[in-house]
Amino acid sequence: PGTMRGLADRRDFLFGVAVASTDLLDPTASKILQENFNLLVAENIMKLQYLRPSPTLWNWRPVDDLVNFAKEQRMKLRGHTFLWHNQNPPFINRLGRNDRDQAITILEETITGVLTRYKGVFYEYDVCNEVIDDEGRFRENSPWYRAIGPEYIDMAFHTARKADPNVKLILNDYNNEYKGTIKGDAFYELVKSMVERGVPIDGVGFQLHLMAEHPLNEEALRANIQRFRELGLSVSFTEVDVRIKLPVTPEKEAAQKATYESLLRIALEEDVSCFVMWGYTDANSWIPGSFPGYGSAHIFDEKLTPKPVYFAMQEILKSY
Ligand code: G3I
Repeated sequence: PGTMRGLADRRDFLFGVAVASTDLLDPTASKILQENFNLLVAENIMKLQYLRPSPTLWNWRPVDDLVNFAKEQRMKLRGHTFLWHNQNPPFINRLGRNDRDQAITILEETITGVLTRYKGVFYEYDVCNEVIDDEGRFRENSPWYRAIGPEYIDMAFHTARKADPNVKLILNDYNNEYKGTIKGDAFYELVKSMVERGVPIDGVGFQLHLMAEHPLNEEALRANIQRFRELGLSVSFTEVDVRIKLPVTPEKEAAQKATYESLLRIALEEDVSCFVMWGYTDANSWIPGSFPGYGSAHIFDEKLTPKPVYFAMQEILKSY
């Protein structure tokens, strides 16, 4: 009960993390997962590049292992992700303007295949990921957009709902967390139009890959959460991390801690559906590979020791 997981369970708060397959096999990592989290998401293995590397090949085994681990540990699962512009297999990357029918078939087979095999298993699923670009327009460098057009998003949600009526269907993105920004407002308008069209969307995901050097705009975040709630949708924090521009200094660490604390408080106060971090340790982080010069983004350090921010978050969970 004193563990992070115990504290989250006590108030039915979904506190989660993205995991690599190796985490489940490693005793130290798996112990950290068990003691701290009640929700997991695969960092990579459910992306189509890995899950469906060719039209006839389905790589279920790593997903089954994750599903079984979560079941044994009584953890919930998020699904990530069906339609994205990254980490696709060649047969999807190849899709072009003249392949509309084929693309629709692949879309339907993939979503139905996964949600039939894992019917009732996922708490929520990122049906589409990052469909809006930084200018607030539909992202064009996606094979799905190229082959099908913007309707691919509605199609994906309808297909998912048909395959599993109970999984919560989520549209996930980054830089979409603030009301009053170009991308934040474009994302909201898209979602609002989906709701108005009767598309079966249940919630939105804010990834929240943040930087310690930019203080959180709490007001714009809360206002954004509220307007989605007014549409009848849930809001999930799906990929939280707060990277630091190296070298780490006590000031930057304090700023990072403040951001994690505010996010957790907002999640608790605004009834956010789940709080999921994109990795737990600097020992295995996507940040240095994607943002050279940045690091130390997670709540455990490279030696798997919890940082002060970890204990601060524990205190917040205790106090709500
Ligand atoms: O699978 C190969 C492996 O065979 C090879 O030996 C190794 C050598 O570099 O690379 C492996 O692939 C890497 C893959 O992660 C699995 O580890 C890719 O190079 C690497 O680019 C890929 O990065 C992932 C990234 O998405 C791809 O865009 C990160 O792990 C993952 O954390 C990141 O996650 C995304 C979310 O899905 C969506 N939101 C943004 C977030 C951060 O970029």
